[in-house]
Amino acid sequence: MLKKLKELEDQSRQSIAGVNNLAELKEIKVKLLGKKGALTALLRSLGTVAPEERPGLGREANILREELERVIELKESSLRDLVKAGQWEQERIDVTLPGRPIDSGQKHPLTIIIEEIKEIFYGLGFQVAYGPDIESDYYNFEALNIPADHPARDMQDSFYLNPQLLLRTHTSPVQIRVMEKLAPNLPVRIIAPGKVYRRDDDATHSPMFHQVEGLVVDRDITFADLKGTLLLFAREMFGSDQKIRLRPSYFPFTEPSAEVDILCVMCGGKGCRVCSNTGWLEILGSGMVHPRVLEVSGYNPREVTGFAFGMGVERIAMLKYGVSDLRLFFSNDLRFLKQFG
Ligand code: FA5
Ligand code: MG
Repeated sequence: MLKKLKELEDQSRQSIAGVNNLAELKEIKVKLLGKKGALTALLRSLGTVAPEERPGLGREANILREELERVIELKESSLRDLVKAGQWEQERIDVTLPGRPIDSGQKHPLTIIIEEIKEIFYGLGFQVAYGPDIESDYYNFEALNIPADHPARDMQDSFYLNPQLLLRTHTSPVQIRVMEKLAPNLPVRIIAPGKVYRRDDDATHSPMFHQVEGLVVDRDITFADLKGTLLLFAREMFGSDQKIRLRPSYFPFTEPSAEVDILCVMCGGKGCRVCSNTGWLEILGSGMVHPRVLEVSGYNPREVTGFAFGMGVERIAMLKYGVSDLRLFFSNDLRFLKQFG
């Protein structure tokens, strides 16, 4: 019996030492120490031994049980350590690797240009005003001296929402809104940036684009003030030797009127696709505020005069950044947008 116990101990120690995963170890534990295990079976057979040998053998068997439990426990904890070490190996972080760059957003080129335009006019004492994108026929046309049957309505093909409401075709309605609010106070000196909408679509015309309106009303404002302001703007925007060209034009809400061209930056004036081979690109419409417009807005045209302009932000951005197709500004192509930081 003592020999059997010794044999069982040796076998058990060997098989426990040979185990290399927790599931197998558990199996061995059950086979040895479980209710139907080998050691339990040995203890049961004590009944067949001479009575005087039983206490000694019983003690030996219990010592062996405790010993085996201890060995199994040790093995179990060392196996657990191995498992953990494996997990650590997988989760290990190499702190010397370069960090992942955070992909941060940046300003849209048109936002950058609008901010630059604002800065230039802040420097001249202008304030910023805003009007709604959805505008009434009255502010977009009527108050600007464009009655319902006026052919000038065809100059700006419009998106109507109903017979009275439309997406504004220009920022000029903000002129009326501002003057209505301020009259009869002087001076009026504002710019009004925003989105405008027309049935247009090609390389230099988009159905939605941006304008910045400008309006100055005061005593003794002349066409020279308009020209000086626009020349100063062009030089601040494009460089101190930038040339501008004023072309006589027509707008119902200004008299006289002029359109202003910038020498085409793309071709240096030689003529290209962007400037339709003219060497010049129109960036704005302008003129002296029409007396009727002053009058409907609450100013006395015999006492005050004013000038106004409306510039195309996309056109300015095209010239400034050398972009030959305005639609790139709206394509949301990151390869394009990332170039303007
Ligand atoms: C006007 O919109 C007038 N309201 C400007 C004005 C304001 C005149 C105040 C007098 C006094 P025009 O339709 O020409 O004018 O547009 C002004 C500028 O917007 C153009 O010079 C051009 O730079 C830009 N523009 C016009 N249509 C488009 C378009 N579809 N896409 C991009 N830019 C455009
Ligand atoms: Mg025009």
